[in-house]
This record gives sequence, structure tokens and C-alpha cells, in this order.
Amino acid sequence: MKHFLDIHTTDAADLRQMIDMGQKMKSARNGRPKGTPDDEQPLKGHMVALIFEKPSTRTRVSFDVGVRQMGGETMVLSGREMQLGHGETIADTARVLSRYVDLIMIRTFEEATLQEMAEHATVPVINGLTNRTHPCQIMADIMTYEEHRGPIADKKVVWCGDGNNVFASFAHAAGQFGFDLTFTGPETLDPERAWIDWAAAKGRPITIDRDPHRAVAGADLVVTDTWVSMHDPESAKERRHNQLRAYQVNEDLMSKAKPESLFMHCLPAHRNDEATSAVMDGPHSVIFDEAENRLHAQKAIMRWCLGK
Ligand code: CP
Ligand code: NVA
Repeated sequence: MKHFLDIHTTDAADLRQMIDMGQKMKSARNGRPKGTPDDEQPLKGHMVALIFEKPSTRTRVSFDVGVRQMGGETMVLSGREMQLGHGETIADTARVLSRYVDLIMIRTFEEATLQEMAEHATVPVINGLTNRTHPCQIMADIMTYEEHRGPIADKKVVWCGDGNNVFASFAHAAGQFGFDLTFTGPETLDPERAWIDWAAAKGRPITIDRDPHRAVAGADLVVTDTWVSMHDPESAKERRHNQLRAYQVNEDLMSKAKPESLFMHCLPAHRNDEATSAVMDGPHSVIFDEAENRLHAQKAIMRWCLGK
């Protein structure tokens, strides 16, 4: 069963093949209206369940559109409205859904929910974000970097802010695609030890530098994300803002990176908190290309899962 659960648990050659396939499918659509189907219909006759236990704009729309472009059909399910949200086990949900659909994408809280779904489903399962990782996002980000600047291998990527789930998948990508990753943020919001150790074991030790200006010096890519994630308690907001203010990505900080550096943010953003509008709308920013590439990268991920 080819589940797409995380970047570090997927074969590096397969990841590369997915990025290249995403780019190929994107080029093939060049100039065509958004709603038109692809010439190739690899998902024709396939039904895909998209389960959301947390809010989403990009993941929801890009998966839905991607399936339809490839000739398949979707059903978007909210966790709350399913029996899953009312006591039915994840394992039973996985077994039942597998009788109806060909592929399951789930956005959830605990990683254990995703793992249990994958363990008991007899169809492929895709991770659409957990509290711990967000692999589809980083596949789109790698694709975006490479379409603007060529291979990401050996480039310097600097993450500013919270060592969260999106950072975790960047750490995995550093090991799998072979780039240098620096984390700059307060010690209290450091990434998980497990991911730091994993990247080091892969020969791509993560640099941790508390000084954002020193960290960003010479960067090829500067990345940030919201200071408060969907799974973080609202009560943490004020403390996090105080701790993270020094790590805001603004024009002054971006000026320390290479002149040809790119700026990324997975969105949704809180403008003028983690990044200023001047940076988000400025010459280094590729944030809307990232959002678009969710569509193309995920189409390739789904084809890989289904062997299509
Ligand atoms: N970046 C991302 O996953 O966005 P959504 O929460 O809108 O899906
Ligand atoms: N770190 C954010 C990413 C949202 C796409 C969150 O988990 O809320």
C-alpha cells in the first residue's frame, strides 16, 4: 500500500519522481482554463474522500480540483459531521471508507489518528496535515523553489519563527532532497528533538541560531509560518507573539539573504506578524506560486499512491 504519510518515510527517488511529475502536469496545463480536465484522466472512475478535522482553504480546494482535473470524483467530509467525531473508532472508519473509496486524504490533530487510519485502510491514505507534520505543503514548496531557481540540493534554507509541523516537514525534506536547513527562533519553540536527530543522521544536521540576522545571512530561501498553529491553545497567543516578534520576516531581515533569495509562507498568514506585507508582496515572495503548486504536486502524489 503506497500511503503518503510523511516525507521522511517516503523513498527519496519516489519524492523526486513526484516533483518532476507535478511539474510535467503543470506544464501540460499551460494556458488552459482552470476548470478544464487534463488530457490524461488517470483518476477516471476513482472516488477520493477528503476528511477535515481542522479548517482549510488550500488543501481542501487544491485536492478537490486536482482529483477532478484527473477525471476522478471527491467527497469532502468534515470530521465533526462523521461518526468519527461521535465515538466511532478510527480503525472502523478506515475499514468502512475503504469499501467505498479509492483514496483517503485526512487533515487531523494527532499523528496517531493518521497512523491508525493508514494501518486499517485498504486504500492509500494521504497526510493533509497533523499537529506534527505537513508533507504535501513541503512537496509544493520544493517544486516552487526548483521552478524558480533550479535544484534545491545544497542550497541554504532558513526557517524563522516557530519550530512547528511545517518546519518538521522541511527538516525531512532537507534530508531527502539534500539541502542545508537553519532554524532561527526562541529556544522555547525549538523543533522536536526527533526531527533534529533524524536530519543529522541523514547527513544534513540542522543549524540552530538564535540571532535571526546572522541566521539569514547568505540564505537562498527564507521561510516562515504563523506564530500560532491551529492546534495551539488560544491562551498561548500573547506569549508567543512576545517571544517571536524578533523573528518577524521584514525587509531588513530579507536584505541579509542573497539578492536572488526567495521568500515562502505556506499561508494562511497573519500579515505584519510573522512577515510584513512588504515582504509578502515584495520581489522575493513566491507565496502564491506555492499555493498554486499544492494542486500540481498533490496530483502527482495521488498518482503515485494509486500507481497511475
Ligand atoms: N497551507 C495550507 O495547508 O493551507 P490550508 O490550511 O488553507 O489548507
Ligand atoms: N502551522 C500551521 C499550518 C497551517 C497550514 C498550522 O498547523 O495551523
